[in-house]
This record gives sequence, C-alpha cells and structure tokens, in this order.
Amino acid sequence: MNKVTVVGAGNVGATCANVIAHKDLAREVVLVDIKEGVAEGKALDIWQTSSINNFNTRVTGVTNDYLKTKGSGIVVITSGLPRKPGMSRDDLIKTNAGIVKDVTEKVIKYSPDAIIIIVSNPLDVMTYAAYKAANKHSSKVFGMAGILDTGRYRAFIAEALGVSPKDILSLSLGGHGDTMVPLPRYTSVNGIPINELLGQDEIDKIVERTRFGGGELVNLMGTSAWYAPGAAAAQMVEAIVDDQQRIFPCCAWLQGEYGLKDIYMGVPVKLGKNGIEGIFELQLNKEEKKSLDESAKAVKGVMKVLDDMKLF
Ligand code: LAC
Repeated sequence: MNKVTVVGAGNVGATCANVIAHKDLAREVVLVDIKEGVAEGKALDIWQTSSINNFNTRVTGVTNDYLKTKGSGIVVITSGLPRKPGMSRDDLIKTNAGIVKDVTEKVIKYSPDAIIIIVSNPLDVMTYAAYKAANKHSSKVFGMAGILDTGRYRAFIAEALGVSPKDILSLSLGGHGDTMVPLPRYTSVNGIPINELLGQDEIDKIVERTRFGGGELVNLMGTSAWYAPGAAAAQMVEAIVDDQQRIFPCCAWLQGEYGLKDIYMGVPVKLGKNGIEGIFELQLNKEEKKSLDESAKAVKGVMKVLDDMKLF
C-alpha cells in the first residue's frame, strides 16, 4: 500500500499511525489534525523511531491540509472528542457528527477510491454518518470496534485462565456501547469451548466487564482509551493491505442480515483488499438474538438523533 491517512492525531490516531508504521504496512502514513503542529510533531516523533524499531514507513503530519492525503488507499478517521467520566459514547453525537461529516467529505475529495475506517464515537452512528457523507458502497465504509471489544474480552479470559490471549478465539456482535453482545457460545480457547473451562458466573462477569470495558478506562484515566482502539484499527488496515481475508467483528451496513436493515452495527465480516468482502450470519439462539435486537434498538435511537440534526 502506498499511502494510508489517519485523521485525528489525538491518542487513538497517533497510536494507530504508530502501529501501522511499526508493522511497515504502508510506504507512507499521513497524520492529519486541526490543531496546528500536533500532527506534524507526533508524526516526526514516530518517524524518529524508524531506525530504532526497524521500519521504513514514512510518517508525516499536516494541519488540515487534505491535499497531502491525496491518493490514499485507506483512510482511518479518529476525529472528534473523546469521553469524559460520566459520559456515554452516545453523548458525543452532537459534537462529533459534524466533524466526521466534514472530515469524510474532505477525505473523499482527494481520495475518492479510499477505503474508510471509522473509529470516532458513537462508533456505529459515526460510521453511518461517514457512509452518508462519502456516498460510496458500504463495503468501503465501515467501522472498528469489534476487534477492540473482543480484544478486551480475550484479555479478561486469558487472565482468568492463566493462558495466552493469543489462544482465545471469540466474537462479539452489536453496537459499540453498553448493549454490545459478546458471545460466550462462540468463544473457545483454541477450540476448547469456554464453558468447559470457566463457570457461568465467571463468564457472566467477564461479559459484563467487557460491555463496560471502555467506561472502566474512562474512569481510570479521565479520558477514553487509545492503545487498544489504535491497535485494533491498525489490525483492520493490515488485513486490507495484505489482502488477508481475515474474519473480524466490524461495524458493517446491514441489509437484512440478522433480520436488521439500514443500520450499521458489529457483525463478523471478511476483510480483504476490497474492504468488507462478506458478512457472516450466525445461528443465534433466542437469548442472543434478543440481546442483538436490544443493541440495534439502542443504535437506532442514536441514528434518530443524527437524522434529527439534519446534517444530510
Ligand atoms: C473505547 C472507546 C474508544 O471503547 O470507544 O475505549
């Protein structure tokens, strides 16, 4: 891949650019921010690790100059405000919707063929906003979050069992919010079903901690997380750049899958060079389907707030 742009040089964007560079996923990463000097400074700092960390990816930064992003193959959008303690992700819609719309339009102007990955919150509805602003096929506009949510879930399970997090295989569905649906029935330790290794009580506690995993970090740090969100977005970039055909939970546009229509939400997808190359539909049991429907209802509620803002 020649060029990847990361919009937003805050903690999440800078971490994402850093991971992309470390993995040498592109010839160039362009970091963009609205605050004078921030993207330039962080990019320079990352670039100065190239000889230490052995990578070639040229990392550059610009203030608001989208011409420098021209011809990007992938654009990761992290713009917007993060949460403060006491806020839900949904509270961010009023500030972040306009920002995501504006950024997406500028990105598309210079990189009409780019695949767009949204990281801004409220994630599912910001992905919807970017889809509307980009006016592209939904296989090219999608959101992060499932990799982050399952990353947290896998870390908690690994900790509980004293095993490698690499061996925890799992899925999560639904919106990136407190109604998300981690799926213990689709969770295994390299094939061993999780319920053969952990009791129901322990599994329930881990699911609950995962649902509020973002909030746990906001309460600890006074702002939202960045290492795992940034790394998760970079993993999506990697799957696309290397055409890996990997299966990840991502925020995708649903058109009847899971009985849901006209909604962006987390589902397992196949990621390759064309973006989302397939959506997998699981045979959910009644309880799982009920949880997914509740999550969809929550996302639809926030979509309505966006629609009422009449930005589109
Ligand atoms: C989180 C934010 C980034 O879950 O949504 O940490």
